[in-house]
Amino acid sequence: MENNNSRKKEHIMLALHDKIEHGSAGFEKILLKHKSLPEIDFDEINLETNFLGKKLKFPVIIEAITGGFEGGGKINEILSEIASEFGIGFMVGSQRPMIENLTLAKTYKISKCPPIVIGNIGAVQLNYGITEKECLRAIERINADAIAFHLNPLQECFQPNGNRNFKNLKKKINEISAGLRSSGMKVIVKEVGTGLNYEDVKDLNIDCIDVAGSGGTNWAIIEGKRGTNPSAELFYDWGISTVESLMNITPLKDKRNLEIIASGGIRNGLDAAKCFALNADIVGMALPFLREIYANKDGKILENMDKEIAKQNLRKFLSKFIEELNIALFLTGSRNIKEIKGKYNMKEMM
Ligand SMILES: Cc1cc2nc3c(=O)[nH]c(=O)nc-3n(C[C@H](O)[C@H](O)[C@H](O)COP(=O)(O)O)c2cc1C
Repeated sequence: MENNNSRKKEHIMLALHDKIEHGSAGFEKILLKHKSLPEIDFDEINLETNFLGKKLKFPVIIEAITGGFEGGGKINEILSEIASEFGIGFMVGSQRPMIENLTLAKTYKISKCPPIVIGNIGAVQLNYGITEKECLRAIERINADAIAFHLNPLQECFQPNGNRNFKNLKKKINEISAGLRSSGMKVIVKEVGTGLNYEDVKDLNIDCIDVAGSGGTNWAIIEGKRGTNPSAELFYDWGISTVESLMNITPLKDKRNLEIIASGGIRNGLDAAKCFALNADIVGMALPFLREIYANKDGKILENMDKEIAKQNLRKFLSKFIEELNIALFLTGSRNIKEIKGKYNMKEMM
C-alpha cells in the first residue's frame, strides 16, 4: 500500500520540477469589452469582496496544496502568513493524513489569521470509512470556517491503490453536508483540475462550488510521471476547461444561491478578470503559489525553500496579479468585480 505522506512529497517535487500543465483553460477565447472612455477613476476600484460570509480584501484564495509531512507544514505556514497579510482566503491540502495519524496535525498549522480558512478532504473517502465526526474534528483542529470535499476520479484511477468506488457519493456528500452545515460550517465541493459539468453538481446541497477546470495542474501528467500507470499519458487532454466549467455552473448561481470559485490554470490578473466576467465570485490558484515559494530571486527553483525569499516572491506575485486585475477592471469601466460581469465577447464557439 502506498504511503500518503511520501505521495504528497512526490507530488510537490513533480509540481516544482516538471512541466505539469497541459492544454488551455480557455481564457484566450474570452475577450473583455474595451472602453475608451471608462468614466471611472482608477483609484476608486475596490477589490474587497464578501465570500461565504467573510470579508476579503482581495477576491483570491490560495487553493489546497499540502500538509501531512514536515516540508508541507512549512509550506502551509508561509502560505497562511501571506494569506493573512493580503487578506485573502487559504485552503489546506487533503487532511486525510492527519485523520489517520493525529501527530501530523501540526503540518496543517495556520499561522496568523487569514479571513477565511478552508479544510480539505477527498469526497471519495466518505465511501472508505471517513465519518462526519472525523471531518468535523479535522476542520475544528485547524479552526476552519469551511470544508472543501474534493472530487478526483481521474487522479484515483492513476495513483497506486487509488480509491475508485464513487458509487452513491452524491447522496453521502449531501448527508454529511447537511450535518456539517447545521454545525455552522460552510461546505464547498471542488474538482482538482479536471473541471465540472452541470449535471454532476446540480443536486448537491452545499454552499459553494470550485470548478478547478483543466488547463492548469494536470493529474494525469503528475501521476503519469510517477510511472505507476502507463495509460496516464492517454488522458493528458481529459477534462473540462476552466472557462467551459464556469459556463456550465453559472445557472446554479442564481437557481441555488451557490457561490463560485474559479480555478484551474489562472496565472495572472487578466485571467482572473475574465473569470469575474464569467460570473465567478472569487478566483483560486495552487501551482503559481507553490512555485513562488521555492523560487530564487531569478525565478529558478531551489532544492530548499528560504522563508523570507518565499514571502518576498509571493508578495511580488500577488501585487502584480492585483495590478493586472485592476487594469482589466479599469479598461472595462468596472469599479469592482461585480460590475465586470457579462462584459465579454467569445472569440469562437467552444
Ligand atoms: C502539488 C499540488 C497538490 C494538490 N493537492 C490538493 C489536495 O490535497 N486537495 C485538493 O482539493 N486539491 C489539491 N490540489 C489541486 C488544487 O487545489 C487546484 O484545485 C488545482 O491545482 C488547480 O489550480 P492550479 O491550476 O492553479 O494549480 C493540489 C495541487 C497541486 C499543484
